[in-house]
Amino acid sequence: MAAELKVEQEFSKVIRERRSVRKYDPSWKISDEEIKELLAEATLAPSSSNLQPWRFIVITDQEIKGKLLPVAFNQAQVTEASAVIAVLGDTEAYSNAEAIYGHASANGLMPEDVAAAMAKRSREGYSSLPKEKLEDIALVDGGLVSMQLMLAARARGYDTVPMGGFDPAGLKELFQISDRYIPVMLIALGKASVEGRPTGRLPLEEIAYWNGFQA
Ligand SMILES: Cc1cc2nc3c(=O)[nH]c(=O)nc-3n(C[C@H](O)[C@H](O)[C@H](O)COP(=O)(O)O)c2cc1C
Repeated sequence: MAAELKVEQEFSKVIRERRSVRKYDPSWKISDEEIKELLAEATLAPSSSNLQPWRFIVITDQEIKGKLLPVAFNQAQVTEASAVIAVLGDTEAYSNAEAIYGHASANGLMPEDVAAAMAKRSREGYSSLPKEKLEDIALVDGGLVSMQLMLAARARGYDTVPMGGFDPAGLKELFQISDRYIPVMLIALGKASVEGRPTGRLPLEEIAYWNGFQA
């Protein structure tokens, strides 16, 4: 019980201490291995039918960051943070349905026939949706994985800032991203040289309603 409480307190601290950080120590570098660990934790996030529509471009090369800088409206964190992670959404994530559910059955998480039926249902259901709906799904799931990535980073003492301030067309052009994918956000990752400013939140009474909506 006491141990559980400690975990809860630590998690609450991670949430409360995360700040959007915009000034980074340019000399501090995170290893590729650790970025992979963060991504692995982030991708434990939930997604619609577990189709995991997120894709990531991990940018650590200074020259490539320099090319990304104008695309991200010259936000200095792009070149100063150790890495920038471009989170993309796959609007055809249903094409992985058989692989995802096949993996689940191979690992004993569900019987083979159930996996096959679920894969079929997912592929048929999602592939018949309009592109706009698939983009909405990719954006929602992309937001969840992004948040989880930022909290996983904070838990290890690293800092992040999510960035919507970039030109999506410019990003797609820079990395030759096809229209199948939709940019979700950029996330700068590194060690703060200047701590993030605390920010306020609207009071709960103005945003949460019980058993009805009275806004
Ligand atoms: C989708 C999204 C896009 C954002 N885009 C930018 C951005 O382009 N540049 C930036 O400096 N901060 C950006 N932010 C960070 C917000 O300004 C910040 O989250 C907000 O002010 C609350 O501060 P906090 O993150 O420190 O709690 C973005 C946040 C979100 C969620």
